Amino acid sequence: MCGIFGCFVKNRAVAPLILAGLKRLEYRGYDSCGVATVYEGVLYIKKGVGEIDKVHAELHLDDLPGEIGIGHTRWATHGAPTKENAHPHVDCEGKIAVVHNGIIENFLELKRELEAKGHVFRSKTDTEVVPHLIEEFMKEGFSFKEAVIKAVKRLRGSFALAIIYTGFEGMVCVKMESPLVLGVGDDGIYVASDIPAFLPYTNIIIQLEDGDVVFIELENFTIYNIIKGREVKRRSRVIDWTPDMAEKGGYAHFMLKEIHEQPKCLKNTLRLEMRYLTKMADLLCSADEAFMIACGTSYHACLAGSYIMAKLAKKAVHPVVASEFIENYGKLVDHRFVLLAVSQSGETADTLKAAEYGLRRGATILGITNVLGSKLTRIARVYVCQQSGPEIGVAATKTYTAQLSVLTQLSILMAERRGKIGHRESEELWEWMHTMPNIVGSVIKATERDVIKIADKYVNVKKSAFIGSGINLATALEGRLKLLEIAYIPSIAMSGLKESTVSCLNGDSMAVFICPFSDPERERLLDEACMARDHGLNVIILTEEEADEAEEVADETIKLPIPPDMPKVLTPLPFIIPLQLFAYYMSVKRGLNPDKPRNLAKSVTVE
Ligand code: BG6
Repeated sequence: MCGIFGCFVKNRAVAPLILAGLKRLEYRGYDSCGVATVYEGVLYIKKGVGEIDKVHAELHLDDLPGEIGIGHTRWATHGAPTKENAHPHVDCEGKIAVVHNGIIENFLELKRELEAKGHVFRSKTDTEVVPHLIEEFMKEGFSFKEAVIKAVKRLRGSFALAIIYTGFEGMVCVKMESPLVLGVGDDGIYVASDIPAFLPYTNIIIQLEDGDVVFIELENFTIYNIIKGREVKRRSRVIDWTPDMAEKGGYAHFMLKEIHEQPKCLKNTLRLEMRYLTKMADLLCSADEAFMIACGTSYHACLAGSYIMAKLAKKAVHPVVASEFIENYGKLVDHRFVLLAVSQSGETADTLKAAEYGLRRGATILGITNVLGSKLTRIARVYVCQQSGPEIGVAATKTYTAQLSVLTQLSILMAERRGKIGHRESEELWEWMHTMPNIVGSVIKATERDVIKIADKYVNVKKSAFIGSGINLATALEGRLKLLEIAYIPSIAMSGLKESTVSCLNGDSMAVFICPFSDPERERLLDEACMARDHGLNVIILTEEEADEAEEVADETIKLPIPPDMPKVLTPLPFIIPLQLFAYYMSVKRGLNPDKPRNLAKSVTVE
């Protein structure tokens, strides 16, 4: 996730507006930034590494001439945060500048093709193919506008683009899956990833749709949709958001926004560079000893991942809480070991310490992280960026499901490479993964209202227990951690509920059971739910829509609209959703701020 901003204003310098707009988009990414303007047929660019204030202090980003310009604040997805990789990116002649948010899936193929035609690339980004592709079509004789359309038709993936060219008195923007909004003001036209960028100048917006290519010229713009193959009209509307609401996309908190972003983030995890994931799968498959090391939420993802690897690939990859690793396993480590470190931030001290220790003893270090350029990416021999964009809420939500998705994909690749699943099963699993963003989207939609009601009813609960068996022990642990972290309700998580535990709980307590159809322990879990209810506990059961028998033993059932034949290894993905929502609403209803739990902060990259 990056932030892009472009504007075309009348009789005003555009660079200071772009700088201010980028500052308001900084929550979308902050590892590097840049601005480009066109003035009297010349392209001006400034870009650098670090947060906007730092780069501005060095380069004076507001000091570029012209009334047309684009800007970018980056959260790296392809290529580490370096000056070369910072946006805007240009063509060979430095006449076309592009900023981009999203992932261009076929960039390698396009890059090779363009290099063969003599184009010289300066960055490791996927974005740079765009200006070169436009340049190439112009060389073939197409006009700038035609060349943009031709180039966009060659791109696969998700992209919001803003493009300027020295020979065009205006700006072009393109939307495909990534967000892009137009702002129509009295004295200018704006385009941005999110509304806050231009909210001080106009509250008249046009939400663009996939395939839209907008040609913005003075006092006028036209929209051509490449999917429909014709010009289209889009309706404008007036919004009455405050800047704070706009930053959170209209949600009350970042945590809720991030819960709702999960379908999109899961889609992004299906666009990872497979060559790295495959390399990782090979290294894990050939390791004599394989471990996963992580903390907190990332550890829960590893716990689930370990079950999936054992089930699908028949390979033991042991999950260990990073702080426990050196003391208990450290002396065993040598070159035969592969350690997969999983860390959203890539900076958690215990995880790095364990990984560095392993590295010193000759182990191969692999990494899964959300932050390119983090320390973990510098230690790991192979790493994969989970592409979730910055997570501002302290409680991890979208980064957890993204980690689960990456680990599941890794497990399927390992199973294929070890010959443990047939072609048909592998195809089915990939199909499930590709429908997962929609499944998760419908789970959010279908369960949120029920969760709000349940949170209302149980807002004063004193203790809670989360029960999930097998792979969903990870779901129980993660559901428990969320409630503990942001609603401060003492909670435990287990794979089974015994009478001894029930006797420590009482009428002010609740027991949450995770009961997918595919769970071989489902009957046992329902029996335990019955027992808990007999002892006066409030029982909540999470299950599929068709499960009537669960209603008989539960005070509340949360029914997930997922196909009952979903393989058990995939159930942690949808089943965590209602638990994230539950923790969020319990926190809000208890008058707390879920975005800023006390005594907790996220690790960040320190330069
Ligand atoms: C802990 C946090 O310090 O770090 C957890 O309290 C978090 O909430 C954990 O999950 C791991 O963070 P990361 O960035 O390594 O995934």
